[in-house]
Amino acid sequence: MLNEFKVQNEDKLLTPGLLVYPKRVRHNIKAMLQLAGGTQRLIPHIKTHKMAAVIKLQMDAGITQFKCATLAEMQLLISCGVRKILLAHQPTKEKMQQFIHWQKANPEIACSSLVDNLDSLKIFSDLAKQQAVKINLWIDLNNGMNRTGILPERADQLYHALTKDHNTVFQGFHIYDGHIRPLDLKERIAKCDKDFKPVQELISRIESEGGAVPNIITGGSPSFYPHALRKNTLLSPGTTLFWDLGYKKIWEESPFLNAAVLITRLISKPNDNIYCFDLGHKAVASEIPLPRVEIIGMENAVHKGQSEEHLIVEFKEENNFKVGDLFYALPYHICPTVAKYNRAYTVENGLHTGYWDVQARDYQIELNQ
Ligand SMILES: Cc1ncc(COP(=O)(O)O)c(C=O)c1O
Repeated sequence: MLNEFKVQNEDKLLTPGLLVYPKRVRHNIKAMLQLAGGTQRLIPHIKTHKMAAVIKLQMDAGITQFKCATLAEMQLLISCGVRKILLAHQPTKEKMQQFIHWQKANPEIACSSLVDNLDSLKIFSDLAKQQAVKINLWIDLNNGMNRTGILPERADQLYHALTKDHNTVFQGFHIYDGHIRPLDLKERIAKCDKDFKPVQELISRIESEGGAVPNIITGGSPSFYPHALRKNTLLSPGTTLFWDLGYKKIWEESPFLNAAVLITRLISKPNDNIYCFDLGHKAVASEIPLPRVEIIGMENAVHKGQSEEHLIVEFKEENNFKVGDLFYALPYHICPTVAKYNRAYTVENGLHTGYWDVQARDYQIELNQ
């Protein structure tokens, strides 16, 4: 596996570092298009990479609409010339004010966002009225993840309020079913269908009363294939662009390749079989228990601990590892890992060729209003 990632001009690389492989990203985009049956149904999330370069590769492939979670990500999408942007994170009043500013400043862009309760709808509607705009809103449904959204069986009132409101425009339903994780594909499809039933029942209720649901946005990566089997929902994976070990374990037979890996150097051998790397929890997503990476060539190492700048592993196999040696590591959770880096080294044909900046890392942006 090492050969797939190895960089020949290693002495140019500072560790810890993030490497991206544009060819692999292009492969993943192609695989997304194949699974989705073309560009029409795709509205990929940019939270995984937060990079203009990856947005542009997807736009080059014909993808026209994207999802984001933060204002910085929305700003990045606007700067990339994307014409359909969904801020898929129910805004607070302060965020909605900035959203409206951008919507007014960029009338050629179809901006939309989420709502899951009547109070937020009222705030958005009042702001829209004050600013003389109409806000496009998707109702965020909770179909089992219990993170955000309104339960489908309780969503009728919000649907009626939104469709009657003169300052907002109903776009459809949004679901993110990140709780769907069975390893076996058939089981995953069955779970996905079961949890989608209440959504279908809600739509049937609305349609039987003469209402209409223009669109439905479904899922992330584990439920990407199950939802792709439906005819017409929009599909919103994000991790598929870079892929990671966590998802590889859930969806082993997926067509996606690891397109972003970490580099780290051995910096100390403090005791027999104990190795210390410069890959602390400031350099890799650390919300999950150890191991948080798999070090290529040390797959059987036991990960003992991590501090801010150090990763300690125990490894008993014979080896010639020397302090200073460079190692490649696959992260279990790529999205928060990328957010720890301001830029990634690009690697093409085994050489470090340049950088892709991680432009949308910040929460604090300059507000316009
Ligand atoms: C609302 C929403 N949509 C889409 C995605 C993309 O999902 P995934 O990371 O499984 O590809 C996420 C990821 O957290 C999300 O929160």
